[in-house]
Amino acid sequence: MTATATTPTALRAFRIALIQLAVSSNKSANLTRARTCILAAAQQGANVVVLPECFNSPYGTQHFAAYAEDVPSGESCQALAAAAKDAGVYLVGGSIPERARGEHEGKFFNTCTVWSPEGTLLDIHRKAHLFDIDVPGKITFKESLVLSPGPKITTVPTPLGTLGIAICYDIRFPELSLAMARAGADMLIFPGAFNMTTGPLHWELLARARAVDNQCYVALCSPARDEGAGYVAYGHSMVVDPRGTVVVDAGASEGTVVADVDPEVVSAFREQIPVRKQKRWDLYNDVVKAPVRE
Ligand SMILES: *[C@@H]1O[C@H](CO)[C@@H](O)[C@H](O)[C@H]1NC(C)=O
Ligand SMILES: *[C@@H]1O[C@H](CO)[C@@H](O)[C@H](O)[C@H]1NC(C)=O
Ligand SMILES: *[C@@H]1O[C@H](CO)[C@@H](O)[C@H](O)[C@H]1NC(C)=O
Repeated sequence: MTATATTPTALRAFRIALIQLAVSSNKSANLTRARTCILAAAQQGANVVVLPECFNSPYGTQHFAAYAEDVPSGESCQALAAAAKDAGVYLVGGSIPERARGEHEGKFFNTCTVWSPEGTLLDIHRKAHLFDIDVPGKITFKESLVLSPGPKITTVPTPLGTLGIAICYDIRFPELSLAMARAGADMLIFPGAFNMTTGPLHWELLARARAVDNQCYVALCSPARDEGAGYVAYGHSMVVDPRGTVVVDAGASEGTVVADVDPEVVSAFREQIPVRKQKRWDLYNDVVKAPVRE
């Protein structure tokens, strides 16, 4: 990738659909439902369709072993390939727990697969930042006990523009989004599932922040909220434009929202506030160096 942050956007006008899927206790029902919604989104003119994080498995480290599949030969990937092809859309397949092989054998990745309208696998993103917290007496949650972190940043060139793909907690790291933008991403897409504390606090804020930082469209796609689930997702799948304006917000319940991505908005805003051309790279070298630990 030779593109730099100062290149004008290669984005084309297209319609994106975010499918805020409802929870089902039956995996094949989830896959069938996803397929129905993908085909319906194509009927609404969508060129790019996005599914939520963990759209076919309960979210929780204790569940991954039972639900993990091989990528791309597993049942869910096969269903996504067929749905992308039959709908004729670029499909950002949310995420599924992937069974890791080789050096990571015994662990899992939280993996997003991206499919072409011909049903071919374009790339995968494995969640790079794992969520580990340990507040004594309050909450302990360690994804790294069962998940392995993804090894790369993911930018997927398409004729509509280059899609930068990352998952949920990855959005909290502005460096990753910046790296995607510098690698040529014209739009950032995050399947995610924030909870009922972090959702109201930060979901919209982070989407708007990454959009404004990088002057690009940002899309977040969550499962629908189910108050009875073990993990209650916030919902509010949304598309934010480069000005930081929320273009569409799905609310809490199941539904598909669509938005028209407009390259003119991107170019106009980058011209008005030319931060991409005015960066002082000579001052920021420290950002890529790991700090010395105490
Ligand atoms: C799961 O869903 C599939 C497809 O919708 C259906 O055929 C099957 O009967 C369901 N299984 C159970 C246990 O409900
Ligand atoms: C279906 O998907 C939802 C997430 O959208 C998940 O919470 C639920 O556990 C899934 N059911 C199965 C059996 O995979
Ligand atoms: C949501 O996640 C945060 C961070 O792990 C945690 O502190 C909080 O208790 C969780 N909230 C709910 C409602 O589960």
